[in-house]
Amino acid sequence: MTPKTVDTAHPLLDETDTAEVLAALSSGDLSGTAPVVAVYERALADRFGVHRAVACSSGTAAVHLSLLAADVGAGDEVIVPATAPVMTAMPVLAVGARPIFADVTDSASFALSLSDVRGRLTSRTRAIVSVAMWGYPADGEALAALCTRRGLTLIEDAAQAHGTRTGSRLVGTRGHLGAFSTHLRKLITTGEGGFLLTDDETTADRLVALRNAGKAATGGQFGRSFGLNFKLPAMSAALGLRQLARLDQRVTARRTIRDRLAAALESMDGVKPFPVRDGTPNGYATLLLADDAHLAVVLAEELAQAGFVSDPRRYGYRPLYDYDAFADVPADACPNAAQLCSRLVSLPCHEGVTPADEQRMIDIARQVVGA
Ligand SMILES: Cc1ncc(COP(=O)(O)O)c(C=O)c1O
Repeated sequence: MTPKTVDTAHPLLDETDTAEVLAALSSGDLSGTAPVVAVYERALADRFGVHRAVACSSGTAAVHLSLLAADVGAGDEVIVPATAPVMTAMPVLAVGARPIFADVTDSASFALSLSDVRGRLTSRTRAIVSVAMWGYPADGEALAALCTRRGLTLIEDAAQAHGTRTGSRLVGTRGHLGAFSTHLRKLITTGEGGFLLTDDETTADRLVALRNAGKAATGGQFGRSFGLNFKLPAMSAALGLRQLARLDQRVTARRTIRDRLAAALESMDGVKPFPVRDGTPNGYATLLLADDAHLAVVLAEELAQAGFVSDPRRYGYRPLYDYDAFADVPADACPNAAQLCSRLVSLPCHEGVTPADEQRMIDIARQVVGA
């Protein structure tokens, strides 16, 4: 019998989501300027404790809009962790700038190495992107301080990190701009979609114009400034509102499973829970770090045989400079990032993971390392 597949994606939808989407549909205004979009944005800003939220069509669009709002363009450079997914770096190419891949502090962290970053700063550097992969908190206050000192825009790509905390702040609210995805896999899902958070009213107004063909936030005509169409439709905003109301409950449920998996695997040799530093992950997934790449491959393969999908295996996770799309981007090797990418295995820890699933994943890990 083929085992059931347990993936990282697990949307939680009930009849209230359906009712809200149907209400948006029957309101007649299905567009991205429908009133429900503004209601969703207000709810996002309030929940994350920032002045403004701007909804958009995807997480990729959110990063793209962040770069445009930061005036990043041709000839500019943007520092991106080599451990980020391709979706973080593609928008840098799209605005005509050059991604500069920087290494992480060590092979068990997604935090940018400040010394590596400093060595890569030039007069063309405009922005630095921080990415909390799989919802694990990464960069601390020091990166924000560096950006402030050097006059650089800090963009937090929090696409996977809804509800992740570092210190007293939520990830995605610490930089100048926070970019989120609401793709199917995310803790708030609208199928496809995204949003931006900022405390800066001027930046928020620019984002509104940038996502709507240059029409000012106060109205008027299109083309008053540069802009594209990256709006989020009304039905998606209605769904996002319901999803947002469920965020705390989801984070708690996932953290509980993540903590149990981590506790069960803590004392094993060969594979360890990924260390949590400076904060609390949101339970997007549970990460394990194998002692070497071979062990990671074997563990991910055994998990796959039992139906459990490991994201690094599914993505072919590797440093950004190893993807064909960036073959023309001059890059130095990032040894910590390379080590990290090759040794990671993810376990699903969402509400669809049963106690039997948890036990099965633990048993597989123990069996692979011979514990
Ligand atoms: C860290 C990160 N950034 C950006 C994106 C892009 O988001 P989207 O798929 O909504 O375009 C993703 C999507 O998985 C992501 O994980």
